[in-house]
This record gives sequence, C-alpha cells and structure tokens, in this order.
Amino acid sequence: MNKKIRDIILKKKKSKIVCLTAYSKSVAKILDKYCDIILVGDSMAHVLYGHKNTHKIKLDNIIQHAVSVKMGIKKSLLVVDMPKGTYNNPKDALKNARIVIKKTKCDAIKLENNRKNYEIIEYLVKKKISVMGHVGYTPQFKKKFKIEGQSKQEVKKLLKDVQLIEKAGAFSIVVECLAPNTAKLITNKVQIPTIGIGSSSYCDGQILVTDDMLGLSGFYPKFVKKYANLNTIIEKAVKKYTREVKLIKFPKRKNFLNGSKLS
Ligand code: KIV
Repeated sequence: MNKKIRDIILKKKKSKIVCLTAYSKSVAKILDKYCDIILVGDSMAHVLYGHKNTHKIKLDNIIQHAVSVKMGIKKSLLVVDMPKGTYNNPKDALKNARIVIKKTKCDAIKLENNRKNYEIIEYLVKKKISVMGHVGYTPQFKKKFKIEGQSKQEVKKLLKDVQLIEKAGAFSIVVECLAPNTAKLITNKVQIPTIGIGSSSYCDGQILVTDDMLGLSGFYPKFVKKYANLNTIIEKAVKKYTREVKLIKFPKRKNFLNGSKLS
C-alpha cells in the first residue's frame, strides 16, 4: 500500500482529513499546501461544462484535468473519479482504472456505489489499485438530490453498503448528504475513514467542491459554506479592466514592452 494512503487511514479518529476538489494545476497548487486529499471529481460536469448531471463526463475529460492537477501537487493524495459507464464490470473497470493511473499518475480512483459493484472494488484492490468508495447521494446513479439515511430501513441499507465496501478493500469512503446520526453510526462502525460532504462533522474528514466554497459555481446548498465570494471579486476586476481599456488607462507606459525585458 502506498505510504500516503496508509497515512490517510491512520488519521481516522486522530485528526480530521481535509479534502477538496480541483480540475487544474493552478488551483491544485494552492490546495496542495493544506489538503490531505485532492479529488478530480466528475462534478466538473456542472462546474466546468454546464451539464445538468455528471453522466456526460468521459474518461478523456477526467484524464485531461487530472494531468493538469497532478502538475500542481507535491504532497497531497490525488484521487480521480471514474466516470459513469467506465466501471460496469470488473474487466472494464480494471482496463479503465489502469489507463487513468498510467496517464495521470494518480494515487487512487473513486467509484460510486450502486449496490452491485462491491466485487468490482474487490477485483481492483486485488490488482493493486487503491479505491475510494462513495455512498449516500451518488449522482451517477441517483436522480433525486435528497438527504440519505433518514429511515431505519435506509440506515440499515447504507451501513451494509459501507461494510461491504470496506470488506472489498476500499481505503476510504465519501459519504454524501447523510443524516448526521447516520454519518456518526457509519463512521463508528467502520475502520476506514469516512469523508463527508453534507454529512455533518461526525465524519473522519470533509470534502467540498472548491468552486462552491469559493463562491464561483452558483451552487450553494445548506451544507456549503462560502469561504470567499470569488464571483464578486472577479466581476469587480473585470469591470475595472473594461473601464480602463475604454478610457485608455490600461495599458500604461509601464506595461509597454521596450527593449528586451518581458518582466
Ligand atoms: O465529483 C465530485 O466532486 C465528488 C465530490 C462531491 C465528493 O464526487
């Protein structure tokens, strides 16, 4: 097992695991100073490509962004989402996961749970591929964005899913939009770290979509805290630039290229 992955597992119950998403080198370079895990998520479907769900993201899209992200990372664990349709059976999953790992040099891949793919995780782990699971709201397989694990029956199902994913060999698991007590129960029942999104502070770590927490994406459900309002900052800057170009205040003489100096 990769040392970085061992360190993540060891953090369970000792210190919270910090995760965010990135789709480019410039953002990854900043996150890398603080995050334990950087995820190249298929949330890029909404954030970058304006799709209404994550289903149109292809292996090539995720690889292209992961290659860029990898260039910005020195220490964090790089996890790459496997797009919908790329892990329908063990053979396809292995072929596609190997392509992703070879091209992006990522440390692990993430698969969403559909209550049928435990043996795919087991097969990948047997083939020395590190896998992160994902339960609760799983956008590749569920249409409705809702709080998961509210009824006794749902809690039982979720706990079973998570235990089977752990047994299959996943090294950690994203738990998305779980009722707080369900997140607490699951976190206490498994040895692998739970990484929550919209699932309370009972999880072993937290992840958010970076563009959401920076106020760039326009998607702000209750579980997202906006740590910055980049939309406003960017708009202010673009407005100022527009005014200065029109008034011939930019570029100034100091911005002119004279002689051989570029910077
Ligand atoms: O695609 C993604 O960014 C994710 C996170 C929301 C966990 O899966």
